[in-house]
Amino acid sequence: MCGIICYLGQRPAVPLLMDGLRRLEYRGYDSSGLAVFSNGSIESERALGKIKALEERLQGKRWPARGGIAHTRWATHGEPSERNAHPHRDCTSSIFLIHNGIIENYQQIKNRLVAKDHQFASETDTEVLTHLVEDHYRGDLVEAVEQALRQVRGAFGIAVMCRQEPDKIVLARRGSPLIIGVRNGEVFAASDVAALVSHTKNVIYLEDNDIAVLTPSQYDIFNLDGADTLNRIETVVDWDVREAEKQGYEHFMLKEIYDQPASIKNALRGRLIEDEGTAKLGGLAPVKDQVLDMDRLIIVSCGTSYYAGLIGRSVIESCTEIGVDVDLASEFRYRRLNLKSGTIVLAISQSGETADTLAAVREAERKGVPVLGMVNVVGSSIARETLAGVYNHAGPEIGVASTKSFTSQVAVLYLVSLLLGRRHRMSVSEGQAFIREFKSIPEKVALILEQADHIRQVARKYRRFKNFLFVGRQLSYPVALEGALKLKEISYLHAEAYAAGEMKHGPIALIDENFPSVCIAPRDSSREKMISNIQEIKARRGPVLGIANQGDAQMAHICDDLIEVPACDELFTPFLTVVPLQLLAYYIARENGCEIDQPRNLAKSVTVE
Ligand code: AGP
Repeated sequence: MCGIICYLGQRPAVPLLMDGLRRLEYRGYDSSGLAVFSNGSIESERALGKIKALEERLQGKRWPARGGIAHTRWATHGEPSERNAHPHRDCTSSIFLIHNGIIENYQQIKNRLVAKDHQFASETDTEVLTHLVEDHYRGDLVEAVEQALRQVRGAFGIAVMCRQEPDKIVLARRGSPLIIGVRNGEVFAASDVAALVSHTKNVIYLEDNDIAVLTPSQYDIFNLDGADTLNRIETVVDWDVREAEKQGYEHFMLKEIYDQPASIKNALRGRLIEDEGTAKLGGLAPVKDQVLDMDRLIIVSCGTSYYAGLIGRSVIESCTEIGVDVDLASEFRYRRLNLKSGTIVLAISQSGETADTLAAVREAERKGVPVLGMVNVVGSSIARETLAGVYNHAGPEIGVASTKSFTSQVAVLYLVSLLLGRRHRMSVSEGQAFIREFKSIPEKVALILEQADHIRQVARKYRRFKNFLFVGRQLSYPVALEGALKLKEISYLHAEAYAAGEMKHGPIALIDENFPSVCIAPRDSSREKMISNIQEIKARRGPVLGIANQGDAQMAHICDDLIEVPACDELFTPFLTVVPLQLLAYYIARENGCEIDQPRNLAKSVTVE
């Protein structure tokens, strides 16, 4: 949510900052701006809309800048507009500041500053912070930032520069990620490694309450609550820069859908022990006994990661005697839970930065239960704040609509199920059969991708509808939820998902010839009931798009349209049935001319509650 990129070095700063903004645009894209040190002064530009608008504003500007800060915004306080775009400046245009996060007590601070005659030009909480730094500035920017932040409640990742102190950028974080990147004679900072990997893989993750001072080729980190210099470990990021590029695909989302055979394989790589019919998850080693002996698991997550959790619940429960709850992270913290020993909380988050999930992690930690993480972004807040965990290794996911991170999360949950299942009732041969089936999944996903043209034809037919119902039973129910989420977030069409058994309790009232249903009905133990549900929809003249196994003549007969997936063991159907729904959403959005990678009102990493 919002993106930050900063640079200090010897190269022209504007092209580097713009490149960083382009790589961060998926984090927020309603306005952008930058400020650079130039000839003893600071130049700044901002624009409403996509990064392209800022590029146009900068045309013809030849600032000899070797350092600066830049920001792409996802609006929280104040509508998307040029005057609300970052950087914000103080009354004398000396201090420029960019900010990710939310300052909760901004109104009280603003009232105090207005009383002291500070002039405000925007409705943002960020501008309040800028004037607060000005209010404390006595010739030392670091000191002023420290004092200002002591009065602030909320979350922030900030970068500040000051005309009187050229070639210096001050960073600070609390609850919103910031990463420093170093390379010979140059220093970068960003809210996201995606903006850094094309320049350097050597990074330092700032922690909450860190304040860092960047000068060309150097950085120093202190603690906001004390003056001690901190030694934070330099980490080498294992991302390949190509992974964060489109590689010839029209959109990141399409590339990431096609990445899935490889990303599922990556989730399994080195984690299956075929002889023993079990799984090995190195990240859980420090808590192995607690994991193997737990009797209750609570999964907390949001959005797509929550739906992955729902699938995980069914699979873990089918392999073990462990009771599994899945909670929306945003609700978990309000529950009066009695967490007994033997309970473990697992937070699932692609970004590892989702504010609600992080809050749930902290609440569970306060209650004294072990909290594990499953994240994709290495070094992210959830990865660092949990006791132990498992990385997805899905590679960077840039499209706002999650695709490969979903199947990767599901894959890791199946590994956890196998590991726990072998401790519980699964025999060696059952474990080995599980592994055989699991290993066949990437190839089967690849076969579905070969049907992209057919799915595109189907999308052309269905694009005219304004409302959709997605239904499935058992493991296909979370798939229905995920399919509906994909469609609504990128095509802005209304889509809702129900467990098919719930249809008769209300949603069937919606059905008519203009309200199609997407029915997920692979050959599983509830298929007959799904067929009945489809008949009920047909009896009300509702168009039906079926997702079924290859060669299912009955489904071909009763559905108006069909997308076929290869046969597999019932337990593994979600990997196969979700892929056509991702492609369906993608092609409907594309046919309708929607912004696919950056849908309106959304951002990739949701760091506000
Ligand atoms: C789904 O396409 C969205 N990107 C969204 O629902 C996402 O899954 C949710 O915001 C949680 O994000 P996380 O996995 O990074 O925590």
